[in-house]
Amino acid sequence: MSVSAALNPSAVVAVVGSGAMGAGIAQVAAAAGHVVKLVDNRPGAAAQAVAAIRAQFARLADKGRMDADAARTAGERLIAAEAVAELADAALVIEAIVEDLGAKQGLFRSLEDIVAADCLFGTNTSSISVTAIGSALQRPERLAGLHFFNPAPLMALVEIVSGLATDAAVAETLFATAAAWGKTPVHARSTPGFIVNRVARPYYAEALRILGEGGADCATLDALLRDAGGFRMGPFELMDMIGHDVNFAVTRSVWSAFYNDPRFTPSLIQQELVDAGFLGRKTGRGFYDYRDGAERPQPKEAVAQTLAGAITLYGESPAALALADRLHERGVGYTWGAAGDERIAAVGEAVVFVTDGRTATRRAAETGIANLVLIDLALDYHSAPRIAVGAAVNCWAPAVGAAIGLLQAAGFAVSRLGDVPGLAVMRTVAMLANEAADAVNQGVCDAAGADAAMRLGVNYPRGPLAWADLVGLPAICTVLANLAQFYGEDRYRVSPLIQQRVLAGRKIHD
Ligand code: NAI
Repeated sequence: MSVSAALNPSAVVAVVGSGAMGAGIAQVAAAAGHVVKLVDNRPGAAAQAVAAIRAQFARLADKGRMDADAARTAGERLIAAEAVAELADAALVIEAIVEDLGAKQGLFRSLEDIVAADCLFGTNTSSISVTAIGSALQRPERLAGLHFFNPAPLMALVEIVSGLATDAAVAETLFATAAAWGKTPVHARSTPGFIVNRVARPYYAEALRILGEGGADCATLDALLRDAGGFRMGPFELMDMIGHDVNFAVTRSVWSAFYNDPRFTPSLIQQELVDAGFLGRKTGRGFYDYRDGAERPQPKEAVAQTLAGAITLYGESPAALALADRLHERGVGYTWGAAGDERIAAVGEAVVFVTDGRTATRRAAETGIANLVLIDLALDYHSAPRIAVGAAVNCWAPAVGAAIGLLQAAGFAVSRLGDVPGLAVMRTVAMLANEAADAVNQGVCDAAGADAAMRLGVNYPRGPLAWADLVGLPAICTVLANLAQFYGEDRYRVSPLIQQRVLAGRKIHD
């Protein structure tokens, strides 16, 4: 096959499975100008979906988000077909049926006897190997993953997933077609979790680890990942929204598909929620209680401290420069000092550093600075409303208070964590970048694809690899190496790509 331009809008697209995803995909294809045939094996389901999509087009027109004529004609291009036998004229069939290998293989096998030889096949599977689905086909080269995100009309990302037998030209045609439909496609190789469902695992896993080790409660960690990390939702509220059954199943499937790689080890805490039937919002309980009258716990926040004395700032790190600006804006005085280490501030008895993945206690022991206080990473230290701190076990209480007072004087709400290595945002971002780097290193996708996938598939505020470059790849590498040393677990091993880039003095995006 030698096709690489987008499908012509005059080509017929078929969507099999008219549930949440199939209907959304059909809406996208019809809006892009295709005649779309929708089929479902539940009697009446396809017709119902067509009616719902037409109503959706009408709503969009009412709100002025779609031209009224375009909405009407797009609706008219939707056809509810009774059976796959009616799909003979399709140039592309997209499958969005039940997530079951046998069912998907059976469907594509029967389609091979119905459609033309040059008809392309796309599967919307989120967890099944495209290679395995293709293995049942006479011509597996025409099949690729076409992985939309929920809700398909709104989410920009489409992972174009190539199995071992997928023809590169087929992947290119689907890539160009998704782009023509207004989406942002990203190429991926068929490996467990593809890009998004793999790289996102640490977002949940690290928060669960910190919770499990008593480093902080859910509400505090959620607030930190939102307010300091810039993520749209904290990990616990997000898991509650996704549903623990679904989220836990994805983690388990990626973990077992990678032969129990400790990177992906599922959490006993989440297992217990699943066992209890506390599946999140949909059952009224998860990490939070959604039942009537239940009170939402608030993030822990340090009480207001008075400034303990003169403030000295050090160095040119983003944290130090932002502290200076924030203090200046609030009329708080400071002076600049010189130091032979990476401290960013000193006030009263406290010396403040940005976490490098060591616990404060270990860093205090290694530096001989007893009153050592660590601050977390922020997406933007200038605008972050909240920041986490951790202090060494032997840190004098008034010194912790002095550091908190300094951060409060700079306008931060301060949440004190236990002395966990890497605190919350730094640890999470380092592990997201590590996973993305491994995906790149293993040829699953390129660095731009990994970052785009995480920004557009799960709304991350910045691609994890671009973020690592910005923090400084050597700093991220150090955080990971310190986590690995602290826990002694293979889970925190540093990606070969990060090691190599640091040794070469290069960024990931060079
Ligand atoms: P769904 O359960 O809402 O819809 C599936 C539809 O397929 C149902 O209407 C069902 O009657 C129909 N169906 C099942 N077997 C069939 C067959 N053999 N022939 C014709 N129709 C059949 O499921 P949903 O959520 O739309 O998922 C569909 C696919 O998309 C799955 O592979 C899922 O893993 C994947 N996916 C789901 C996402 C999500 O967030 N729900 C996101 C991305 C992918």
